[in-house]
Amino acid sequence: MNATPSNLAITPRNLKFNRSTSTGERRGHHTRWWHSNDPIRTAFLNALSVTFPQGESFFVEAVRRYRDAADPRLQEHIALFIKQETLHTREHVAFNRVIEQAGYDTEAMNAYTAHRMTVARARPPIAQLAITVALEHFTAILAHELLANPRQLDGAEPEVARLWKYHAIEEIEHKSVAFETYLAATKEWSGFKRWYVRCKVMAIMSFLFWRTNTRHMADFFRQDGINTPRTWMRVLKHHFVAPGLLYKIAGEYWKFYSPTFHPWHTDDRHLIAAGERMLAEPPIAA
Ligand SMILES: [Fe+2]
Ligand SMILES: [Fe+2]
Repeated sequence: MNATPSNLAITPRNLKFNRSTSTGERRGHHTRWWHSNDPIRTAFLNALSVTFPQGESFFVEAVRRYRDAADPRLQEHIALFIKQETLHTREHVAFNRVIEQAGYDTEAMNAYTAHRMTVARARPPIAQLAITVALEHFTAILAHELLANPRQLDGAEPEVARLWKYHAIEEIEHKSVAFETYLAATKEWSGFKRWYVRCKVMAIMSFLFWRTNTRHMADFFRQDGINTPRTWMRVLKHHFVAPGLLYKIAGEYWKFYSPTFHPWHTDDRHLIAAGERMLAEPPIAA
């Protein structure tokens, strides 16, 4: 079932985004609603970003614990996965500072995320790995959609769009690492048990992932004074109609439940190449 391309390159890119320049000026011009001056599109991605530093640290711990069960190639991929996620955390910590500087208080969101992490860390190590497999599938299919459909980031401030595209490229590159670590860690299990546990955990995590995202969006909307039914109707439109992010990823999401699923059965390496070309463009000056 090992479908990871033999020539796959997982490349940690030590890039910095959204930092102040030497003159103290911030690169780019961050408005509060940095995505198309739209509070919904901004809140959706802000809500993801505030969970990333804690979430990605959890992924790293969960995968690292099973390094010894992996063959040498997978061990190498695990090391690169850890490097990539650690750099993502650094960049989202910097971006989350930009969110705060735009006037948002993220303390309650951080506390809620920390609470969810405490609950997850109380689970057995193999369950923590299965949680990581589920959430890495979400990040990989969201990343695919962000890179495949330019509309998703059209109208976003360029420096912030670059951060999301960089992150998306690397999520695609390492999308099978947690999954294959899970296969290595459960090689004594029956095929049915392996499938059943990852699917059960995915069903639970799907609920928890979207509940957390929705909670955080509500927090942003409250701070914007727009936590109203009208705003939530617009959220539904954003998720399911235009740009229809959830609707677009639904097909890839359901593939996870197949007994023969492997992340690389969808080969989207062409998006890595396209994303790389975009990152090679000169950064936006202040
Ligand atoms: Fe990441
Ligand atoms: Fe990841």
